Amino acid sequence: MLLSSRRLRRCQFLQLLVTCSVLSLMLMFIQEDNDVVNHIKSYSYRYLINSYNFVNESLSLAKFQGTRNFKYLINNKDKCENEDVLLLLFVKTSPENVMRRNAIRNTWGNENYIRSQHDVAIKIVFALGIEKDPMKSSLLQKKLVDENDQYSDLVQQDFFDTFHNLTLKLILQFRWVNSYCSNAKFIMSADDDIFVHTPNLVSYLKSLDSVGVQDFWIGRVHRGSPPMRNKNSKYYVSYEMYPWLSYPDYTAGAAYVISRDVAAKVYQASKTLNTSLYIDDVFMGLCANKMGIVPQQHLFFSGEGKSPYHPCIYNKMMTSHGHLDDLAYLWKHATDPKVYKVHCFLLLCVVSQVSSPLRAWRLEYGF
Ligand SMILES: *[C@@H]1O[C@H](CO)[C@@H](O)[C@H](O)[C@H]1NC(C)=O
Ligand SMILES: *[C@@H]1O[C@H](CO)[C@@H](O)[C@H](O)[C@H]1NC(C)=O
Ligand SMILES: *[C@@H]1O[C@H](CO)[C@@H](O)[C@H](O)[C@H]1NC(C)=O
Repeated sequence: MLLSSRRLRRCQFLQLLVTCSVLSLMLMFIQEDNDVVNHIKSYSYRYLINSYNFVNESLSLAKFQGTRNFKYLINNKDKCENEDVLLLLFVKTSPENVMRRNAIRNTWGNENYIRSQHDVAIKIVFALGIEKDPMKSSLLQKKLVDENDQYSDLVQQDFFDTFHNLTLKLILQFRWVNSYCSNAKFIMSADDDIFVHTPNLVSYLKSLDSVGVQDFWIGRVHRGSPPMRNKNSKYYVSYEMYPWLSYPDYTAGAAYVISRDVAAKVYQASKTLNTSLYIDDVFMGLCANKMGIVPQQHLFFSGEGKSPYHPCIYNKMMTSHGHLDDLAYLWKHATDPKVYKVHCFLLLCVVSQVSSPLRAWRLEYGF
């Protein structure tokens, strides 16, 4: 680590300061806002949720739910065969998002670039369902088949690709990795509108691999998040679906990384849990909780937040959310060898602490 312990303490102090001021401001101005109060209540409750079994017990199915083994419509079974794969990277995408997929293939998802520059194998797989709109579905499906003929990187199952089916997409990923890519040392799941600094990530994972890790799960951790009980919210969850005050800790679904033993355990757990909880990252948290795996915060996983555009950030950043038109720009600048020479400690520390959690809160609560 480049940071001396004194600097680190300064950073933690700043973090504390900022968090405290933000919290007191929020309490002063929005005390009547139930969501914020809920959040604080559930934060204290989370210790209970994370340490006892009652969550997984009550959500467990009496018997195996066979119906969720959806058929593969497009598959690339031999993608990982006979190779020493460091990282399998799932990108959650939808049938119509071909522009996003192409942008990723040309930038951070370029397997050949990583192989030539970093001498390791990474594999990119786009996970998707089928188009729900019958007017569009057959044409889109034809295009997908052509796209896969060209790139051989799609995995599609025959469930409708909708927001409320995200948990099915999560299960697709875990089922696929256990069937066809169990040799991958690390697995990442990411949205198709994020930027992943694959060179930074790969160097980090290489160093972890050389010491060997287990039960590894990193990202931007949501601690003690309360279920959304407002019926107008996209994330609304009924008491019947989830009765408690808080979810177990989980990482933002926008981007997280796990080790292969976690992938196997979460897949086992997922078979036994009720999938009606359609928020995929929460479902993942429930599976992990059942297996006794806890997520770890990584400062440079931005979660739902966007990293600032600044050379001080580029040599540390892992992921940044909300990039549609600027992937090429960001890729070019963030991987420029010159940025590795830049040091600007304080900015880095303030910015990484403040921007992402705030944005995540704003997204979650709409203020
Ligand atoms: C999820 O996909 C299944 C299978 O295609 C479909 O029957 C169901 O309606 C979908 N659910 C939602 C909420 O779109
Ligand atoms: C899953 O939970 C829902 C409530 O959210 C319930 O209606 C449904 O019956 C459960 N399914 C199974 C198979 O237990
Ligand atoms: C719930 O999770 C714990 C580990 O946290 C595990 O020991 C227990 O067996 C699980 N309960 C069920 C019903 O699977």
